[in-house]
Amino acid sequence: MVAIAEDGSILVGTAAQRQDLTNPAYTARSVKLRLGTGWTMTRGAVTLTAQQVATLILRKLREDAEVYLGVPVRRAIVTVPANFDRIQRDALAVAAEAAGVRVMRMLSEPTAAAMALNSDTDDRNVLVFDLGGGTLDVSLLTLGDGIVDTRTTSGNSRLGGDDWDRALVEHLVARVRARHGVDLTQDVAAMRRLREAAETAKTGLSSASAADIRLPYLTVTTRGPLHFEHTVGRAEFEHITRHLQQRCTALVERVLAEAGVTADEIDQVVLTGGATRMPMIGDLVHRATGGKPVHRGIIPEGVVVGAALQGGVISGRVKDVLLLDVSAFSAGFATADGTAVFLIERDTTIPTGRHEFVCTTRDRQDRIVAHFVERGTGGAEVGETLAVLELTGLAPTPGGRPRAQVVVDVDINGALWVSIRELRFDVADQREFSGRLRTYVEPNNNGPDRTHPLAPHIFTGREVGIHVSRSVIEQARLLVRSRNWRPLSNDRPVLWKDPADPSSIN
Ligand SMILES: Nc1ncnc2c1ncn2[C@@H]1O[C@H](COP(=O)(O)OP(=O)(O)OP(=O)(O)O)[C@@H](O)[C@H]1O
Ligand SMILES: [Mg+2]
Repeated sequence: MVAIAEDGSILVGTAAQRQDLTNPAYTARSVKLRLGTGWTMTRGAVTLTAQQVATLILRKLREDAEVYLGVPVRRAIVTVPANFDRIQRDALAVAAEAAGVRVMRMLSEPTAAAMALNSDTDDRNVLVFDLGGGTLDVSLLTLGDGIVDTRTTSGNSRLGGDDWDRALVEHLVARVRARHGVDLTQDVAAMRRLREAAETAKTGLSSASAADIRLPYLTVTTRGPLHFEHTVGRAEFEHITRHLQQRCTALVERVLAEAGVTADEIDQVVLTGGATRMPMIGDLVHRATGGKPVHRGIIPEGVVVGAALQGGVISGRVKDVLLLDVSAFSAGFATADGTAVFLIERDTTIPTGRHEFVCTTRDRQDRIVAHFVERGTGGAEVGETLAVLELTGLAPTPGGRPRAQVVVDVDINGALWVSIRELRFDVADQREFSGRLRTYVEPNNNGPDRTHPLAPHIFTGREVGIHVSRSVIEQARLLVRSRNWRPLSNDRPVLWKDPADPSSIN
């Protein structure tokens, strides 16, 4: 949480939280969800973007860690929700850099949580249920043999511990209204105290069966000061938050249905996120995953433990754990006929790199426009534009010949590199080309580096490539919406089908 105070000073963390009820217009919470958007908060001369807010929070975390550890902290493993897109990840990395923290590795949160489990056995399906302050993430992954293979299916929803606080506050407000005929919602100070008391009671109810709320002088009525006292029982709390529990259950069911996995096939359940400390959450997840006695690792800080383990792996101090993260998106290119070829499918283990050979469509076409797109969970057919690269000055040939190689690489952090490489004209005879391809092209799908070696017989050495950053995406989207796009889009290539490959006939 970050706030701008009246005098223009900026408050971070607890200091911001303390004043958020009296200063809601200038207090930002859950800014991570706004990373990469045009969101800003302005008060007087001070304006903050989401990225700047993230920088302030990360700097505060770094400083707190330095005080605690007594040594400078310069690098970090950063975790992000599984469905964070490229722009959000990029914005976060830039924000961290500005806060003096180099991102060594960006891990998706369910992967990190699963890493915290001992994975030295056969393949298992693991359900990660992460309920934080404002978001619920449910992911299903496969784990085994020292490998966390995150063949993730995930669902996410704006639901978190804060909603439990709000439900309790509403319940208490209704009680006061019924008993004393007073509407507390108009009393800012009373509401702040109620909310703090509600969170304390919620936390207390995780380990005790009842929590006392005592708020003397909560407000002033026509009959004098109102002293509020109430003991919340666990059953009462569970009753007033039934609707929230139902939403949790529904999300688990949806994720299982999408993955085509039955509750019986889940071997392990990991609860992570502060709000899963509430016993009702353990119960509902237990029911939603079949009600059988599943072996359950309950690790409230699983994400953090996993990130720390990954730090140990990188620094060489932790052995025997190998992490395989997956691409959150499908990435590929759009063709002249308006369809898309996805070289990397969502949920492919990263790092990964794939390529395809493409043809011009017209005789004497002297350029190829590579229009890279990605498709997230949304499922738009052709996908969102990522980058546009132009390979110009091609020697004149008849259309329909393989003239270029289109490459998409995702590195270990999910960062994307795209390129287009010119193929030799003298091998553009398809028959000879396919023969040589078999001999010379060795796509490397598991190495961390960009290695799609093209033999010099095939590759002219001309390549246009780019790291897909936020500014690249923004420029490309502007271009695609502009008037210049029409002629460019006509020069998009089509996929080359290897005539010697039986699967490509039809
Ligand atoms: N003992 C407890 N019992 C119940 N709830 C708790 C307990 N401890 C913390 N919480 C709640 O957990 C939530 C914070 O969890 P966490 O730190 O995992 O969130 P976050 O990762 O910052 O948020 P998000 O994942 O939504 O962005 C808060 O709502 C807090 O009140
Ligand atoms: Mg969280």
